[in-house]
Amino acid sequence: MQAASKDRLNAHLKAYQQEHLLAFWSDLESESQDQLARQLDAIDFEFMQQLHAGSREIADLETVASRATSPAAVRLEGEASRDSDDAHEAAGALIAAGKIGAMLVAGGQGTRLGFPHPKGMFPIGPLSDRSLFQMHIDQLLAIGAYYGVRLPLYLMTSPATHDPTLKFLQEHDNFGLPREDLHVFCQGTMPAVDLDGKLLLDAPDHVAESPDGHGGMLAAFCNSGCLQDAQERGLEQLFYFQVDNPLAKVCDKSLIGHHLLADSEMTTQVVAKGAPDDKVGNVVDVDGRLMVIEYSDLPAEVGERRNADGTLELWAGNIAIHVFRVDFLERAAQSNSALPFHRARKKVPFVNERGELVEPAAPNATKFERFIFDLMSSAKNAIAVEAAEADVFAPVKNATGSPKDTPETAQAAILARDRLRIESSGIELAPDVAIEINPRYAYDAKTLRDKLPQGTKIDRDTYFH
Ligand code: UD1
Repeated sequence: MQAASKDRLNAHLKAYQQEHLLAFWSDLESESQDQLARQLDAIDFEFMQQLHAGSREIADLETVASRATSPAAVRLEGEASRDSDDAHEAAGALIAAGKIGAMLVAGGQGTRLGFPHPKGMFPIGPLSDRSLFQMHIDQLLAIGAYYGVRLPLYLMTSPATHDPTLKFLQEHDNFGLPREDLHVFCQGTMPAVDLDGKLLLDAPDHVAESPDGHGGMLAAFCNSGCLQDAQERGLEQLFYFQVDNPLAKVCDKSLIGHHLLADSEMTTQVVAKGAPDDKVGNVVDVDGRLMVIEYSDLPAEVGERRNADGTLELWAGNIAIHVFRVDFLERAAQSNSALPFHRARKKVPFVNERGELVEPAAPNATKFERFIFDLMSSAKNAIAVEAAEADVFAPVKNATGSPKDTPETAQAAILARDRLRIESSGIELAPDVAIEINPRYAYDAKTLRDKLPQGTKIDRDTYFH
């Protein structure tokens, strides 16, 4: 039986020059053999061969970047921003009708942060110590309570973050989110290949695989039954955001409203870049279509182009917050080519011919990932909507001590935003008083004013919850 299995696998692998994956077969227990056989059967070797050969690759980004111009956008200042009352009204009506849900991607491993757990578990609340997960869920609950509706959360994990995420959420009763409103689903994986296109083993009975990028959301959302759940609930739109940004304004009404007014299938929130080489993706227009070009792919001379008034031509920084029409996602999911694969040279630990695990010192393999923002170029009426960075973007990417995007910079941004909320409601604060506001305490300015009338004295650090 097992010999037959080996012969069958070997014949199949040989057709793609991948027989080395069976190098340890005869040393394996039968359970391990079964596991390896299952994994190999699930891999599309024909497709991997095409990816390695580059025949499925996206167009040459440098040529594309040379044609990039500023995207169709609603700016913070100027003509297009005038209708923002209409936008708020449209968004409010959609939320109140229970037609929007949230999609949070949390499959990344946070290696740069140096936190050995899913990033969503990181305690970021400056006074409250609330985790990133809780910060996001608090917002959903606050919006739901304000509008008298329930907003479901679709939370994407990866094989590395799935179980610890579930455990953490269970231990905290999902931070108050009813069980029926939380759907945790796991993204898919892709094998890595070495320079010769050979897949790598990371154990004698296991092929090295890694998450297929946040673009894996599209397939996993459908395959997990979450798309169906969204449709059954009558959701028309999904608000998409990343776990690493505690300042993300969940279901931001300006963003959703302009998305609705433009009858857009996918809208993306952007912030104005401060400098040409800011380390964010660039939302640009290429031949009439919106797309994101990563900072690392943008030639310096293109990034530095300026308008007559001195402002950057490619000004729109990607903060990875989007709104999707649910029927657009459904249509995109039906086409296997809606999202291309990007390749990245990475260090991938592998098992050598003696069966020892080697941690390479330099990149030894190519990983393949899909990016969800690539859907923008196939979306009808796609637009960008600008927001102020201080209101919506303070990601936690790097460890304490790095110059940017650390827990400390994010906490400072949270405190600054919440201090401004208090001061805007007419309360004076001493400069050294730190304020954190849980949105469940006061979701909007009026509630905050009612709870903290003018003249209220706040003379020490306070977490309002
Ligand atoms: C990303 C964007 C960049 C943008 C920045 C804003 C890409 C390629 N670049 O950069 O344009 O300016 O965010 O913060 O996306 N994730 C998964 N599964 C995966 C990979 C990632 O769920 O397989 C999630 C992570 O948990 C995280 C998010 O996607 O929430 C972003 O991933 P990360 O790789 O950290 O993106 P950045 O390089 O920071």
